[in-house]
Amino acid sequence: MAEPGKVDMDKIASLVKRRGFLFQSSEIYGGLASCWDYGPLGVELKNNIKREWWRTNVQQRDDIVGLDASILMHPSVWTASGHVSGFADPMVDCKLCQKRWRADHLNDGRCPDCGGEVTEPRMFNLMLKTFLGPLEDDAHQVYMRPETAQGIFVNFSNILTVSRKKLPFGIAQIGKAFRNEITPGNLTFRTREFEMMEIEYFTVPGGAEELHQEWLDDRLNWYVDLGIDKEHVRLRRHGDDELAHYAQSCYDVEYLFPMGWMELEGIANRGDFDLRRHGEESGKEVSYYDELSGQHIIPYVIEPSAGVDRSALAFLTDAYTEELDEKGDLRVVLRFHPRLAPIKVAVLPLSKKETLAPLAKEIYTSVRQHFMTQYDDTQSIGRRYRRQDEIGTPFGVVVDFQSLEDNQVTIRDRDSMKQIRVPVAELVGTLQRKLDGEPLDVLPPGGSYWLGFDES
Ligand code: GAP
Repeated sequence: MAEPGKVDMDKIASLVKRRGFLFQSSEIYGGLASCWDYGPLGVELKNNIKREWWRTNVQQRDDIVGLDASILMHPSVWTASGHVSGFADPMVDCKLCQKRWRADHLNDGRCPDCGGEVTEPRMFNLMLKTFLGPLEDDAHQVYMRPETAQGIFVNFSNILTVSRKKLPFGIAQIGKAFRNEITPGNLTFRTREFEMMEIEYFTVPGGAEELHQEWLDDRLNWYVDLGIDKEHVRLRRHGDDELAHYAQSCYDVEYLFPMGWMELEGIANRGDFDLRRHGEESGKEVSYYDELSGQHIIPYVIEPSAGVDRSALAFLTDAYTEELDEKGDLRVVLRFHPRLAPIKVAVLPLSKKETLAPLAKEIYTSVRQHFMTQYDDTQSIGRRYRRQDEIGTPFGVVVDFQSLEDNQVTIRDRDSMKQIRVPVAELVGTLQRKLDGEPLDVLPPGGSYWLGFDES
């Protein structure tokens, strides 16, 4: 039994499965290891994270444009990028129970399950393979991309031509990636199919170090601005022995998961490695004409590379809180930032009586035009509040019998549980301002403080 008040992965796992954030892939067939399906709330959370990332990095910047490249690419891409020869982890087998482990994940050099002796490490390439067309031979073999980045590098010249961008500029992409991880686990923390949000930010070589520092701050702040406690994220510089084959230097944004500090995002200086290698391998000119020096140069690139699934897990973990209400009952609340909350508003008629339904439905129809909204008229109002708290809905709108007389409804705040009463005509505007961060006690015209309905 998990300790009350303390976040652990078991509690997160139980909540996400119970409330439909996540399901095991192919569950009715016994499941497929380390593959997950996002349920109705999970897909909303994930979409909100991706939308926020895109809004911050593409929509609100003049110097970054978007791309959606295909997952399957010409096999030479992966030879040029170094993934065929270098994208491998050291793998060991337990001599006793035959389980396979990543050598760098062992604490004392023995099997974490049974303590058995393990074999010498062998390198294991992480790329998943498949075949294009009806023939399953080497000539038709392709890889499922292990990072979205290469789709950006091979389109560098295309995008330069169509966007007419000048250095420094970036290309952003969100998409699936696949890795045949040796030891996946911790829910969606390490899986074999996952989604990435990557930016390749190109610059003149001399500008790379300074931009690297700027990106570190930008990316760390993005998580904090979206509600992660700033004590729970940090930057960690990679040691030389940890650097990926393409990286000159790299920092991880780490999050304090219940299992410890773990990587959320990598921010690497990849130098000119990728563009240079694609120029060499393809025989095509991949460069930038620098007007200042009058020369063609190969730009350097800074790469902030984040995992959507890992971010979702971190946002879930950080939002998870347990508290005792005034009766001593446990209240579980996901204190999501309103922009990330899967459901923004719940419309809750105080009773199921038919007299309330027409007005409640009318309000629901109008509110859902603007925000992701749920209508719930089952069980006591207290239980419905708890259900919405547990999925992180910032606001409940209660329609009561007095609403039929005065055309006013109450708005109940998830975090403080305080309520205000507002005219129906002011409801959508008020909700919008509250979701944008206006304090609850700022009242719209005709609004008033409200003692609230009993939470039980
Ligand atoms: N293009 C750079 C790159 O691929 P990475 O550090 O290997 O860098 C970037 O991956 C991010 O992708 C990680 O910080 C993590 O959030 C996510 N990620 C990587 N492997 C993952 C896996 N097996 N499951 C879930 N997320 C993963």
